[in-house]
Amino acid sequence: MWQLLLPTALLLLVSAGMRAEDLPKAVVSLEPQWNRVLEKDCVTLKCRGASLPEENSTQWFHNGKLISSQDSSYFIASVRVNDSGEYRCQTHLSIRSDPVQLEVHTGWLLLQASQWMYKEGDRIHLRCHSWRSTPLHKVTYLQNGKGKKYFHQNSDFYIPKATPKDSGSYFCRGLIGSKNVSSESVNITVIQDLTMSSTSPVFLPGYQVSFCLVMVLLFAVDTGLYFSVKRNIRSSTRDWKDHKFKWSKDPQEK
Ligand SMILES: *[C@@H]1O[C@H](CO)[C@@H](O)[C@H](O)[C@H]1NC(C)=O
Ligand SMILES: *[C@@H]1O[C@H](CO)[C@@H](O)[C@H](O)[C@H]1NC(C)=O
Ligand SMILES: *[C@@H]1O[C@H](CO)[C@@H](O)[C@H](O)[C@H]1NC(C)=O
Ligand SMILES: *[C@@H]1O[C@H](CO)[C@@H](O)[C@H](O)[C@H]1NC(C)=O
Repeated sequence: MWQLLLPTALLLLVSAGMRAEDLPKAVVSLEPQWNRVLEKDCVTLKCRGASLPEENSTQWFHNGKLISSQDSSYFIASVRVNDSGEYRCQTHLSIRSDPVQLEVHTGWLLLQASQWMYKEGDRIHLRCHSWRSTPLHKVTYLQNGKGKKYFHQNSDFYIPKATPKDSGSYFCRGLIGSKNVSSESVNITVIQDLTMSSTSPVFLPGYQVSFCLVMVLLFAVDTGLYFSVKRNIRSSTRDWKDHKFKWSKDPQEK
């Protein structure tokens, strides 16, 4: 039911003179989440944005050019290097999304990360991905040239709570058969989280002030309505009594 209600509500807002820039922005996400992939990987881009039900209204843009897919998911079964670039999407009731950058690399190994910029305390997730997921063993993840984690069988590497010390240049290496292969290195940055201590207390009073303002306004409007309704009722009953009085009086005056 709500799937129907949301677009209907949005349509009402639109017809009530809402400007295009007030519409929500669509959001592109990747499945799997990696924005760096190897050739022949399978990638699905998903567009989240309000639209009317039963309508293929999604527009996809690759490097600014409209592509033919109108489905809310854009599926690439086997990516090529020329699929690299910027993807954006848009629906009838959303404006064009921010871009998602897809990088298609060639080679045996690629270090993938859930993000390249983390906040302190975030979980870092790294993956040493081999071409066509070829079995890889004796895998080392290295930070600034030093071994940080070793797995006999290839596994994802998690750092549960990132600290600025985890920033640096990372790559991974291992054996495919007896061949020693390495990925290119990538930079990972962990920024100190200053927002947690400063924004919440600033945000809360602001929110409370506006909440109180709304309550005061509602009360004022309500009270105003009450008195004007009461006055109207009183004057109309007075009019009615006067009429009755006149009516009952009139015959006697004749
Ligand atoms: C909309 O998409 C569905 C499933 O993707 C498809 O079966 C249908 O033909 C499409 N309709 C139009 C009008 O393109
Ligand atoms: C990539 O190149 C191939 C041919 O080499 C072509 O068929 C395909 O449409 C291209 N894809 C894009 C997104 O340009
Ligand atoms: C791969 O080669 C590097 C040197 O280039 C070496 O340090 C490393 O131990 C080798 N890895 C394995 C698993 O043999
Ligand atoms: C990583 O950062 C260093 C400096 O901190 C820079 O010289 C290097 O080009 C960066 N590498 C990549 C792949 O961005």
